[in-house]
Amino acid sequence: MERVNIGIIGFGTVGSGTVEILLKNKAIITDRVGSEIVIRKIADLDLQKDRGVSVDRSVLTTNALDVIDDAKVHIVVELIGGTDKAKEYILRAMEKGKHVVTANKALLAEHGKEIYGAAEKHGVSLAFEASVGGGIPIIRSIREGLSANHIKTIMGILNGTSNYILTQMTQKGIPYSQAVAETLKLGYAEDPPTLDVNGTDAAHKLAILVSLAFGVPVSFGSIHREGIDRLTPDDISFAGEFGYCIKLLAIARNLGNKVEARVHPAMIPLDHIMANVNGVYNAIYVEGDFVGPNLYYGLGAGKKPTGSAVVSDVIHLARQLKNGAKNLIPPLAHVGSKGREISIRPMEELHTSYYFRFSAIDRPGVLSRISGVLGDHGISIYSVIQKGRKVNGSVPVVMLTHEALESSVLKALAQMDQLEVLTDKTVVIRVEET
Ligand code: HSE
Repeated sequence: MERVNIGIIGFGTVGSGTVEILLKNKAIITDRVGSEIVIRKIADLDLQKDRGVSVDRSVLTTNALDVIDDAKVHIVVELIGGTDKAKEYILRAMEKGKHVVTANKALLAEHGKEIYGAAEKHGVSLAFEASVGGGIPIIRSIREGLSANHIKTIMGILNGTSNYILTQMTQKGIPYSQAVAETLKLGYAEDPPTLDVNGTDAAHKLAILVSLAFGVPVSFGSIHREGIDRLTPDDISFAGEFGYCIKLLAIARNLGNKVEARVHPAMIPLDHIMANVNGVYNAIYVEGDFVGPNLYYGLGAGKKPTGSAVVSDVIHLARQLKNGAKNLIPPLAHVGSKGREISIRPMEELHTSYYFRFSAIDRPGVLSRISGVLGDHGISIYSVIQKGRKVNGSVPVVMLTHEALESSVLKALAQMDQLEVLTDKTVVIRVEET
């Protein structure tokens, strides 16, 4: 095959980054594939906006079906995001025997079973490197580079927006709302940034990684997720006094017949390997049973890094086509996993240490009321800080606990919420030592 034709649906940030790389690096990409990759069609509802790249107007269309139904298009690249139209387009493209590249983490996390199944049914390839970690080749690493291993642990900073916000709050001591406003100006966040800051985006990405690691789609709804919106600069500075920083972590562990999968702000020691991953950078730690620990680091968002990931998928599929292979690697890189199910361990069974920030009335006996409730639930205190400074009439009382069971912590907090000496809901951050 001398030419591999691609059609792109979605000419926004990632779409224009994709086109820019294909045009600027055309010579080296052609050398690497051995065929020319031709952009045959690009569909977008807005054809007036300047994308900063020069494409012949004849390839542009407002109708996505012009891309999918074009018999000469070999690879459909879906970059519109969302779960409705994108799903319809991808399924239609697969029915027509086209290979698909997508960056759509929400679609894969929430409807993966259907999409992966359709790819297998129609014997086409589905590539989704850009769905996790922006430009970091984490999908290919798990799918191919680590394919000899059982994956034991995945721990990631998977959302660049939240990481940028936390970095700003840490380095400048500014409140959450100000850090969000600064981040929005940079264009890394989804619009609106709700899914970035409430943990959903990171959970989508974790669902994809867990599915790949185990070869079966996981139920997205079972992944515990919390965001960063209740954290204050005080939490960050108290964490620092205890020797920790705060990161939004996505964590998965292989527990044998179950998997642990959770996204939440976590306190990690200042000398932890993830502690210096700042700004919009992402990092993913993966541990395999034979390879041991691997660490991947890079830009997790943005037009160029994400475009780089999309084009790497196009190159992979173009090489397959060039060499007459149809579907070398199944979407989840397993052929023997059909019917196998893996369930996610309930969060209540988690056993870890906790940071609590209580908003307490400053009067004698308050500390003993709090520690009494914790003691009743078998939660042992490791360290306490109480500063005289008042926030809305209350003082922050901050505690680190020894390891405790999440279900006991939930019960203790529910009881604590009834105490008249506490004036606000307690802020809870789990501690991740390893
Ligand atoms: N909005 C995402 C982030 C990038 O902030 O990491 C796209 O996945």
